[in-house]
Amino acid sequence: MIASVLRGLALAALCAVGITALQAQQQPIAYSHKKHIALGLACLDCHSMADIGPAATIPSVRKCMLCHSTLATDKPEVKKIADYAAKGREIPWQRVYGFETQALVKFNHAPHIRAKVECATCHGDMTQADTAQKLVNHNMGTCITCHRQKGASQDCATCHY
Ligand code: HEC
Ligand code: HEC
Ligand code: HEC
Ligand code: HEC
Ligand code: HEC
Repeated sequence: MIASVLRGLALAALCAVGITALQAQQQPIAYSHKKHIALGLACLDCHSMADIGPAATIPSVRKCMLCHSTLATDKPEVKKIADYAAKGREIPWQRVYGFETQALVKFNHAPHIRAKVECATCHGDMTQADTAQKLVNHNMGTCITCHRQKGASQDCATCHY
């Protein structure tokens, strides 16, 4: 009895590890949010469409080069950034958040930022994140729970194409 409960727990622990591992993305460059927020940068300095458009957007390599053409140029990870920029190529970042295309979800950042929903509510504390990982899981239930609480729309067509 106890042995089987323990086995169950061990399995549950293994599954939890598996899920965490799946959610951490291998990125082409070891970019750290924590280091850059510590420099005094704000989320919207890089994700500059979040308060005005549907997508927050990932910054172009040209934005990185505003600093890294002169700062930390001796670091191997920063040399990789300069290589992409010299070739005129964007850094092929792997996406962390998103929905299956067949779920036909349409998400829009701007109304949330205007309604003062914090980035951290939906993405966790990125100021402490050294790697890109999904800190918050989103599904229809989590969207609708907050929409109900805040009196936002619960129409199917608000969130689906
Ligand atoms: C110096 C620019 C910069 C700043 C400042 C910045 N980010 Fe990012 N962010 C990036 C880059 C580059 C990526 C893509 C690499 C990665 O996922 O780590 C990214 C990825 C993300 C992702 C994952 C996107 C996805 O689905 O793939 C989230 C969420 C995010 N940032 C939130 C934030 C929040 C919240 C803040 C403020 C606390 C912030 N970022 C500040 C550059 C920045
Ligand atoms: C209400 C929840 C919510 C809030 C608030 C929110 N996000 Fe997001 N964010 C999401 C979801 C959901 C996705 C995935 C959307 C998709 O794939 O269509 C996402 C995707 C992203 C992405 C990657 C794709 C893109 O949109 O370009 C970045 C970067 C990002 N968010 C940054 C931010 C930042 C920075 C803030 C605060 C200024 C913020 N988010 C606030 C839910 C949220
Ligand atoms: C406002 C200036 C600024 C911008 C913009 C900026 N960085 Fe940085 N970055 C720095 C500074 C300063 C350091 C050194 C910080 C430290 O060592 O603590 C750094 C460190 C790094 C490092 C770590 C180097 C190492 O190995 O220690 C990487 C990788 C990096 N940045 C990637 C990026 C990427 C990718 C972008 C664009 C999305 C970007 N940075 C945008 C200023 C900037
Ligand atoms: C923490 C609370 C919260 C969460 C979580 C949340 N929303 Fe929202 N959402 C809001 C608020 C508040 C508004 C703004 C309502 C307004 O402007 O009247 C909004 C507005 C929207 C709008 C625009 C509606 C319109 O009428 O233009 C869309 C689309 C949307 N949300 C989709 C989503 C989706 C999809 C998710 C889940 C991935 C989600 N939201 C999660 C609080 C939330
Ligand atoms: C506030 C936003 C929101 C509203 C309102 C909403 N949905 Fe969703 N729905 C989502 C999100 C986000 C997903 C994706 C969940 C995931 O990937 O886990 C989803 C997933 C689904 C799926 C599953 C698709 C699949 O691939 O399995 C169906 C079916 C669905 N919604 C139907 C509806 C219907 C019908 C309504 C109206 C009664 C509705 N939704 C209202 C956000 C919403």
